[in-house]
Amino acid sequence: MARQILKLNHISAKGLDRLPRDDYEIASEFTHPDAILLRSHKLSADDIPESVLAVARAGAGVNNIPVAECSSRGIPVFNTPGANANAVKELVAAGLLLGSRGIIEGIHYVNKLYGMTDMAELHRTLEAHKKEFKGGELVGKTLGVVGLGAIGSLVAEMALTLGMEVVGFDPALSVEAAWRLSSQVKRADTLSALFARSDYISLHMPVLDSTRGLVNAELLAVIKPGACLLNFARQEIVNEGALVDALNAGTLRKYIADFPAPQLIGRKDVILMPHIGASTEEAEDNCAIMAAEQLRDFLENGNIRNS
Ligand code: MLT
Repeated sequence: MARQILKLNHISAKGLDRLPRDDYEIASEFTHPDAILLRSHKLSADDIPESVLAVARAGAGVNNIPVAECSSRGIPVFNTPGANANAVKELVAAGLLLGSRGIIEGIHYVNKLYGMTDMAELHRTLEAHKKEFKGGELVGKTLGVVGLGAIGSLVAEMALTLGMEVVGFDPALSVEAAWRLSSQVKRADTLSALFARSDYISLHMPVLDSTRGLVNAELLAVIKPGACLLNFARQEIVNEGALVDALNAGTLRKYIADFPAPQLIGRKDVILMPHIGASTEEAEDNCAIMAAEQLRDFLENGNIRNS
């Protein structure tokens, strides 16, 4: 009898193809599914029927899944670390450029000139306002990377190619990961030391009890004045009240994040994106393939990978 996979989000066809239709039925509703396959759907313990043997997420973070409850019920939770790392790294590159140049303000200004048909007038107007959009360069600036896992290490290497100095901090860095990392990535002894010397700080860690609210008032108090904070990890890592205080005080020049946060929307010193770090065709395929293969390997062979 075919196994039933409850699919709670759009999952790329290339991933679903790893679950042959002769052996697997895939649908968004089943009463007694064998497994759950999802992306960002917020799953509660009550949503997991008794029949479920495994949950697989096509993505790195598992904060939308009740992992502790799954563990207590003996249900492995699979994720796909590294499968979307390149996509996130590329968006962080965009974040660095948005933080250093007046790109957003410049685009907004040009859009406001809609309807101006006289080319000479358009040129004069833009010339008169150009100085308002002046930025700075990334070359020679310091990027602090907090978390040097699959995404953080790619971000560190990318920043080196932009001519930035890179300093990293990761108390849980494995020996293998440390060997893989370029020797040009310097290490900060403490998070405060990284915050104090970085012009740009990029966060790359999961939400855990130890990281929730990690960027707090104490840390933001030692930030290098005029620094820019990039958060393409999870909103919960930054204490929002402390962040607003640092922005209001002007010590933090800009906050760029991949999540909408109601009290930050509309601020000139904040750029928010709709959680699109992993939203590329390639990353969606990679994540879906890895999640589906893990699920299949578990259901058919009992193997547990990335759980
Ligand atoms: C992740 O944890 O990898 C991302 O949240 C993936 C996604 O956007 O689905």
